[in-house]
Amino acid sequence: MKVAVLGAAGGIGQALSLLLKTGLPAGSELSLYDVAPVVPGVAVDLSHIPTDVKVAGFGADALDKALTGCDIVLIPAGMPRKPGMDRADLFNVNAGIIKTLAEGIVANCPKALVGIITNPVNGTVPIVAEVFKKAGTYDAKRVFGITTLDVIRSEAFVAELKGVDVATVKVPVIGGHSGTTILPLLSQVEGVTFTEEEVAALTPRIQNAGTEVVNAKAGGGSATLSMGAAAARFCMSLVKGLQGEDVVDYAYVAVENGDAAYFAHPVRLGKNGVEEILSYGELSAFEEQAKNDMLDTLKKDIQEGVDFINA
Ligand code: NAI
Repeated sequence: MKVAVLGAAGGIGQALSLLLKTGLPAGSELSLYDVAPVVPGVAVDLSHIPTDVKVAGFGADALDKALTGCDIVLIPAGMPRKPGMDRADLFNVNAGIIKTLAEGIVANCPKALVGIITNPVNGTVPIVAEVFKKAGTYDAKRVFGITTLDVIRSEAFVAELKGVDVATVKVPVIGGHSGTTILPLLSQVEGVTFTEEEVAALTPRIQNAGTEVVNAKAGGGSATLSMGAAAARFCMSLVKGLQGEDVVDYAYVAVENGDAAYFAHPVRLGKNGVEEILSYGELSAFEEQAKNDMLDTLKKDIQEGVDFINA
């Protein structure tokens, strides 16, 4: 298994790379790319951890080398939020970065599974898809927006609120990855029930959890450690799928005849990426309303990404 992390010297990139160095199957290779000159050092640092995962670092002019032969490419490259910014404020800077990296994937590993972390995810995933479409290499089954952070935050907050073992909590989260487009399905959490007041308080807490971190870091960036853990968890789902295991996880993927052109769903993963997009099941009246209220925002975010490549 060869996995590339693009933006590997950043806050998320370093945490994620550490977890992959210690978590990927024996015999794997980890390819770390960043435009920051520290990236070879990050690779040397990680290479001193005694696991059977080979690490190599690649600087600004070596994107092609970093991507050659990769099975999975994870992208946390780009600017994070500062207090007062929302994810859409990042679009102008990050859209161009994502386009360049997607072109690198087209040229060097067009069959790789691609997991996008760079915000705004609602728009960066369509950018990657449009670059692949233009090049004739697009396969909707292989492109993922990583929304796992919304899932793990939901698990942590539900366990804390209800005093249950966090290892047993599963919370479906659908929609997109910003503000109200993040839709946790609290009505589907098994083994616990919520009052209307709890749903009305917990839903926005999950939706704004990123801002909780941005404000607490007071200008020092956004979530990096929890995001590193989330991306590593999602990467392990992709790896298991590639190895032939039957895995279901949540991700923001292209959906035909769905609520929007891209929407986070439960997906069955396998050797070719998405094997099946599963139904998210029945929604409560609160969730149905929240979904209908956010769809215009999500569709606008998606269109912005599509237009960035085509307009
Ligand atoms: P950071 O600033 O610590 O790291 C970003 C890294 O990207 C830097 O090392 C920088 O040199 C690198 N970079 C910039 N341009 C590049 C290029 N053209 N090619 C390769 N690398 C490049 O930022 P952090 O905190 O790691 O966040 C990264 C991104 O992830 C941000 O866009 C942030 O908004 C997003 N994010 C996404 C989350 C999600 O749930 N999907 C959660 C938290 C953050």
